Amino acid sequence: MFNVAKIRKDFPFLQNNSIAYFDNGATSLKPKSVIDEVLYHYNYESVNVNRGVYKLSQIATQKFDETRNTVKDFINAKRKEEVIFTKGTTDSINLLALSYGELLNEGDEIIISQMEHHANFVPWQMLRDKKGIVLKMIPIDENGELIYDEFLKLLTPKTRLLSITWVSNLLGTINNIEQIVKDAHRLGVIVSVDGAQAVPHLKIDVQKLDIDFLSFSAHKMYGPTGVGVLYGKKELLEKMPPVFGGGDMIDKVTLEKTTYNTLPHKFEAGTPNVADVIAFKKSIEYLNNIGIENIANYEQQLLNYAMEKLSRFDDLSIIGISSHKSATISFTIKDVHPQDIGMLLDEKGIAVRTGHHCAQPALAKFNLKATARASFAFYNTKEEIDKFIDGINYIYDIFK
Ligand code: ALA
Repeated sequence: MFNVAKIRKDFPFLQNNSIAYFDNGATSLKPKSVIDEVLYHYNYESVNVNRGVYKLSQIATQKFDETRNTVKDFINAKRKEEVIFTKGTTDSINLLALSYGELLNEGDEIIISQMEHHANFVPWQMLRDKKGIVLKMIPIDENGELIYDEFLKLLTPKTRLLSITWVSNLLGTINNIEQIVKDAHRLGVIVSVDGAQAVPHLKIDVQKLDIDFLSFSAHKMYGPTGVGVLYGKKELLEKMPPVFGGGDMIDKVTLEKTTYNTLPHKFEAGTPNVADVIAFKKSIEYLNNIGIENIANYEQQLLNYAMEKLSRFDDLSIIGISSHKSATISFTIKDVHPQDIGMLLDEKGIAVRTGHHCAQPALAKFNLKATARASFAFYNTKEEIDKFIDGINYIYDIFK
């Protein structure tokens, strides 16, 4: 039984605020177990990892390593050294573009889609401009879905990499990654998946889906900010050059030459975000305790409930109406600026994101510059959605 009242008690934010927090796509709230773990590290074990022989350093190193193992199990990676810690999804994708990009040549082709977050758009443009790579974009339709035939047409013998989101942060569309990977692999194309909006909400199995690279952020998984993951298949990561030089990533350093450490250290230069990586484990344990399938089911119920209620408003348009949709609803109200929607909802105690959501190419498809966006998590309730609908009625009372 999914007991949301019990779950809400685990989140200090929800005890200390009466706000209906619908900005989970931007960042999620943290359960007490995660916050306590961060504090515990700074209070009792605030030492560096991978460096000391003294007991405390070894304890911290072991805990740091346990998170890597927990992440490995959570996404069902084959080996823990395939899990590289980064600062977040943006950092992961940039690392991939900078490193894997070194293996590409002028004229090689990379495919992205129109629904990408800018974090999975701009790094590839930067690579294009640096190396003369050809960047192609899969267009989306008016429902906010990939135009799949166009994707298939973009694949050529020169395509080296496809970098695509699993779930759109703007539209909520859940892409069929299994099919996409199969179609890309048929031509030997490597697939990088932006999992930022997927990993907290869907069951992930990188081996079953044969995903080559997966990027995601702890802070959207009820974990700390400043931690992300770049998962990559070992044989690919082995071939890739390091991007940042310094501590931990070396094997031997002389003036003439430096040799590099093994995976995952080759990509983790410098002191990592020790406390937050350690606490990230607690957030995955928290997700595992509830069960990701239970989370997905409950969030779909919230989505259906909100979609039905919002559909009753004339002049309210939902941007992104795929039948495979996560609990993210972008919307506009005719003649009301999204900024005003956000401010008026805030007056009524509802937090939504407004603006371009770092997805301007997708918005351009709908001739929009901004929307309001409500994104739900498993601690949200139907009562909060009722409050949100009251807030929309309040906006209509003012503007209509
Ligand atoms: N990428 C996050 C969002 O979509 C910040 O809101």
